Amino acid sequence: MEFIDPEIEKYASENSTVEDPFLKDVAKITREKLDAPSMMVGHLEGMFLEMLVFALSPNRVLEIGTFSGYSSISMAKALKPGAVIDTLDFDEKHIHYAKKHIKEAGLEHVIFIHEGDARTTIQNLTGPYDFIFIDADKSSYEHYLNHSLKLLSQNGIIAVDNTLWSKRVLDPNDNTEDTVALRKFNQKVAENPNLRAVITTVRDGVTLIRKVN
Ligand SMILES: C[S@@+](CC[C@H](N)C(=O)[O-])C[C@H]1O[C@@H](n2cnc3c(N)ncnc32)[C@H](O)[C@@H]1O
Repeated sequence: MEFIDPEIEKYASENSTVEDPFLKDVAKITREKLDAPSMMVGHLEGMFLEMLVFALSPNRVLEIGTFSGYSSISMAKALKPGAVIDTLDFDEKHIHYAKKHIKEAGLEHVIFIHEGDARTTIQNLTGPYDFIFIDADKSSYEHYLNHSLKLLSQNGIIAVDNTLWSKRVLDPNDNTEDTVALRKFNQKVAENPNLRAVITTVRDGVTLIRKVN
């Protein structure tokens, strides 16, 4: 799936720090073994997340939507010693590959997978988290955001993936569940006076959110 002009994406990728060889391998295996590999953030967005983690210097990171581990491992690259990532997923095959990749990366003591429906798991977590990356089922984004705001530390940031949804948010004839949910989510976030939010046009749209009240 193409999210932005492929020529520009190629140029940006070629003129960024080269993709980590281990992550390149994770991406290759994900493309070979799993359906819908475009769900993976990939080189540029993975490095974007790594940069955010470096800048925020979080003690605890929460990720909703592990898939094969690419984004978790990208974020772990910039974590300070002792910091951890909790990541949530419910798909057995995705969890199998994520565990394999996390183990091979030597990050078992850093990245902890919580298996089960994230809509429930998130209700049983205890904060604070300094960085939260929401990247699971789009129709639950509002639920994830509401709980994430309770778990977020005072100076924390929430990043939400796919908020431009391959431009489908602009198509008035697209009334599929995920598109409608994302349109509603984006509007609610922008209008919430307790939040500051920006949709960055990185890949498929990454909204950055912080609390102001
Ligand atoms: C877009 S992928 C995550 C991609 C990952 N962040 C990456 O870049 O490598 C979404 C993941 O969320 C998981 N997921 C979807 N709905 C879920 C739910 N209700 N509970 C737990 N996991 C869910 C899927 O199994 C899938 O692995």
